[in-house]
Amino acid sequence: MHLPTLSLSVLALALANPAAAAPDPLAPTGRWSPPEHAAARTPPMGWSSWNAFRTEVDEAKVLGAAQKLVDSGLAKLGYRYVNVDDGWWLKRRSSDGKLMIRTRIFPSAAIAGGDSSFRPFTDRLHAMGLKAGLYSDIGRNACSQAYDLHSPNLPEGTTAEREVGLYGHVDQDTALYFRDWGFDYLKVDACGINVYAPGAPVVLQNGYRPFPPLIDQASINRTDVAQVRSLYATVAAAVRRYRPDGDAILALCTWGSADVRRWGKDVGQMWRTSQDITPHWTRMLHSFDSASTRALYARPGAWNDPDMLFIGQGDFDAQHLTEARTHFALWAIINAPLFIGYDLRQAPDSLMKIWGNADIVRVNQDPGGHQGVIAYASDDVQTIVKTLSNGHKAVVLLNRGMAPAAINLTAAQLKFAPDAPITLRDLWSGRTLSPFNRETAFTLAPRESRVFEVGGTRRLSDGMYLSEVPGDVNVAADGVVAPEPDPVVHRMIGQWSGTRDTGERPTYAGWGGAQADATPFDQTLQVAGRAYDTGLGVLAQSRLEVRARGAERFEALVGVDDSTRDTYDAVEFLVYGDGRLLGRSGTMRFGMAARPLRVELRGARVIELVTRKVGRVTDLPLVTTWAEAALRGGAASITGSGS
Ligand code: GLA
Repeated sequence: MHLPTLSLSVLALALANPAAAAPDPLAPTGRWSPPEHAAARTPPMGWSSWNAFRTEVDEAKVLGAAQKLVDSGLAKLGYRYVNVDDGWWLKRRSSDGKLMIRTRIFPSAAIAGGDSSFRPFTDRLHAMGLKAGLYSDIGRNACSQAYDLHSPNLPEGTTAEREVGLYGHVDQDTALYFRDWGFDYLKVDACGINVYAPGAPVVLQNGYRPFPPLIDQASINRTDVAQVRSLYATVAAAVRRYRPDGDAILALCTWGSADVRRWGKDVGQMWRTSQDITPHWTRMLHSFDSASTRALYARPGAWNDPDMLFIGQGDFDAQHLTEARTHFALWAIINAPLFIGYDLRQAPDSLMKIWGNADIVRVNQDPGGHQGVIAYASDDVQTIVKTLSNGHKAVVLLNRGMAPAAINLTAAQLKFAPDAPITLRDLWSGRTLSPFNRETAFTLAPRESRVFEVGGTRRLSDGMYLSEVPGDVNVAADGVVAPEPDPVVHRMIGQWSGTRDTGERPTYAGWGGAQADATPFDQTLQVAGRAYDTGLGVLAQSRLEVRARGAERFEALVGVDDSTRDTYDAVEFLVYGDGRLLGRSGTMRFGMAARPLRVELRGARVIELVTRKVGRVTDLPLVTTWAEAALRGGAASITGSGS
């Protein structure tokens, strides 16, 4: 009688303590685990009301933009989503909790009897061949209710009526937005779980119900990451329920906080990596930097989102076309969603030509979905290279500063053979430059960028380096234990406080996360004194899933990176194919020369690259390097990507 009782209590204990029962994140699964979405196979494109109008949005403005997208041909290029951001709501009806639209600004939403519906509006957009997007918040209250207090379009009524966010209404609101109103896209902001703390002036002065914050943007330790993720996952499940065809986009807006780098790709189709962009050059750089080192986290169906375009205003207006073009080229090459944030009804031709550059849009929309990878970085200039499906590369050379800059572009940076001719086509002028070998040089004006499509002979004649195909890599576990703010993100003068405070620190965007062609802490890959210009850098206790795409073998030189803080622990590198162990490095330590790992894939479809500490001494981050990691032979020799 005692035995079963005992085992039941052991079982109960295991169930009560999920950590004890948690699956080993490093155990191979034998499959490509991220959810496959029908939507957002390439970065979403379109128009959003926010940067153009903030809460002063109305139907005429939105439909005017929609019409211009269609008439100008931008819609044909891919700008299809027309998104209404914050400002559309009137209140949550007290009788049944249904959200009411401010029909004064969206007249077509008015229905007899005082009800409202966006269905006529979305029908209209759909009839134009466009898609419709809407905005909500994961908490009870939205951002405008804290930051746009003078807006004429704030929710009205009692405290409960002004609770327009999803919290406590996920199923009801999601059904309304997707099933009843026919939207295709939902942006879900996070102010409701961030700035409505008990006792906060905004709460007291406006009579909001307080919400103990789940996100503290200044401190990951004071952020309830699991809870934030779970709230968004609940919305994602509701979106799937009410949009069973899967053709819906959920855009996560936690501004890079709540460790969204780690889980955004498994929950939504895009996730913001930074706080709001403003029409200032350095703020644009800040947004760009927050996403540009995160190439391995994006892929078809899941995109880093450095925020909407601000082309047309401030530093990016028609008087600053150099800056405007650079902003566009940068978003394009890192596969950022391209949302125009300008009153398109009066857009000058010079700006229309920027959004309408079909070649640069094609770079962004390449079906391989490989985010551009930083090939050269400094605070002054950067070179970003992206693999295209046609076997070419796209490259952006960027002068970040106010002085002219000389930039060399080398065959090695392109991962092209140095002795074969390399051709450059300038994607702004359309001109093809004379071919070069080894390297070529440019001088860029302040804030200028150059964008080229580049043809050449691949350095690896029979395969691809994994850092060339980040869209085929899924970072299932990145080994980050203590997420830290990312120090390589440009810090601009604060948007609201100017220089009165101590400075606006970047919101956490994933420092220590896996990187292509760099270590997780943005150092050059180097093992036992030998530097490598290509490879994957990741912390130990990591598991990367890689699509094999018909390659015959996987090869890498593996070792503990010289930059590691943990110089004590041993680690092993393991390679699995469809869940079977295909190769292992044996125990490696700091200071040991990189070991070749070469495994035949024997038809495996998914490879898993695992690094596991052996006999752990310390919890310091141990940096592991898969130098020159590549898929070779078979189909890998003929494809630059796949979709
Ligand atoms: C937040 C978001 C912005 C915008 C506003 C709306 O600040 O980050 O993109 O949606 O809210 O109030």
